[in-house]
Amino acid sequence: MQPFRYRDGALHAESVDLAAIAAEVGTPFYCYSRAAMAAQYRGFADSFAPLRTLVCYAMKANSNQAVLRVFAGLGAGMDVVSGGELRRALAAGVPGERITFSGVGKTRAELAAALDAGIHCFNVESEPELLTLSEIAASKGATARIALRLNPDIDAGTHAKISTGKAENKFGVPIERARDVYAEAARLPGIAVAGIDVHIGSQITDLGPFDRTFAAMADTLRMLRAEGHAIDHVDLGGGLGIPYHAGQDPAAFGPERYAELAKRHFARADVAVVLEPGRFLVGNAGALVASVVLVKRGGDKRFVVVDAAMNDLIRPTLYEAHHEVLPVAEPPDGVLLDPADIVGPVCETGDYLAKARPFPAVSAGDRVAVMSAGAYGAVQSGTYNTRLLVPEVMVDGDRFAVIRPRTSYEELIGLDRVPDWLA
Ligand code: LLP
Repeated sequence: MQPFRYRDGALHAESVDLAAIAAEVGTPFYCYSRAAMAAQYRGFADSFAPLRTLVCYAMKANSNQAVLRVFAGLGAGMDVVSGGELRRALAAGVPGERITFSGVGKTRAELAAALDAGIHCFNVESEPELLTLSEIAASKGATARIALRLNPDIDAGTHAKISTGKAENKFGVPIERARDVYAEAARLPGIAVAGIDVHIGSQITDLGPFDRTFAAMADTLRMLRAEGHAIDHVDLGGGLGIPYHAGQDPAAFGPERYAELAKRHFARADVAVVLEPGRFLVGNAGALVASVVLVKRGGDKRFVVVDAAMNDLIRPTLYEAHHEVLPVAEPPDGVLLDPADIVGPVCETGDYLAKARPFPAVSAGDRVAVMSAGAYGAVQSGTYNTRLLVPEVMVDGDRFAVIRPRTSYEELIGLDRVPDWLA
């Protein structure tokens, strides 16, 4: 489903004119389509039938309570990576038995909280973590269901900063150590070996690395069962990529071929499959809407300066990520498209949303939408340059609601404390 379309000369989210939202909440703001999120979830979850699956939304991609409610309402579980995310998932009504906990540096307090919540599985990333979890669980008289996150040393073919399955990356336990570490896990008090886990990276558009990874996991599953471990699930992580470029055919990014791979490797294994999609469920369902502050020339370049910046959406400068930028007012057919750098007001050369992008003439006050910003957008925002966290809005058909208001300067500056000796 394509939730953002021009209608009557203006870019709409579902049936709501983005300019109307801008007039009410001001810019910049993030806008999400509930229908697009739900459609992505259903398409994803359904494509794995007849496998027994648990889809644990990787909520790091977008953890607004309203977004979590959309997925929880459809039966999703959540993959959490911190005590904070665990609290958010529980607050959104996600039952503990549908929560997985990933991450290389879980603290004792976080492990204890997840044990208390009775989560489905700890995706353990190292032997020290395993020992600590065992100790805490045993002291509580509890049992932690665990999967070891295995590092298969496979190159996901994605940006270096979001590749996680190579030996040089900090994640998981080397797959060749699986036999030994599972044997150790089986001996530890408070630990129940339940699954195996992997996640090789994000925005993966070539299925080859997934195929090789799933094959390695299927081999490991057979080996561990032969060793006597009762493995009830395989967690295949997330990572499925989405279209970011205008010319790309969304149909080519469907979940079907990815799901086929999972079926090919696990349908006959009598094992449940856990999936942790993040970006796939929310990325194309969101846009960041901004206003043009001014247009300036520098050398032979045109700079469109907007009121959103790298602190609101850091993906372009952090990962050289491409996001389409559309004017909210539909440009007439055949309009001249001159290259422009679309930049924010932050005092850094890396503060840009798009570079050398063919773009129509715009002027101060015009609105623009940075597309495919539903994943890793608002959650990675900050307040650099004392800029306020921007609001988030959810659209549902012809209505919309602010699901996080803009913060205020009082709130932001009020976080600081001046010691007596400076007052
Ligand atoms: N599971 C684990 C253990 C993960 O670390 C991640 C993402 C996911 C699932 C979800 O991956 P996805 O389906 O969203 O690709 N900030 C970066 C992406 C970082 C991904 C981190 N881990 C970006 O904006 O591209």
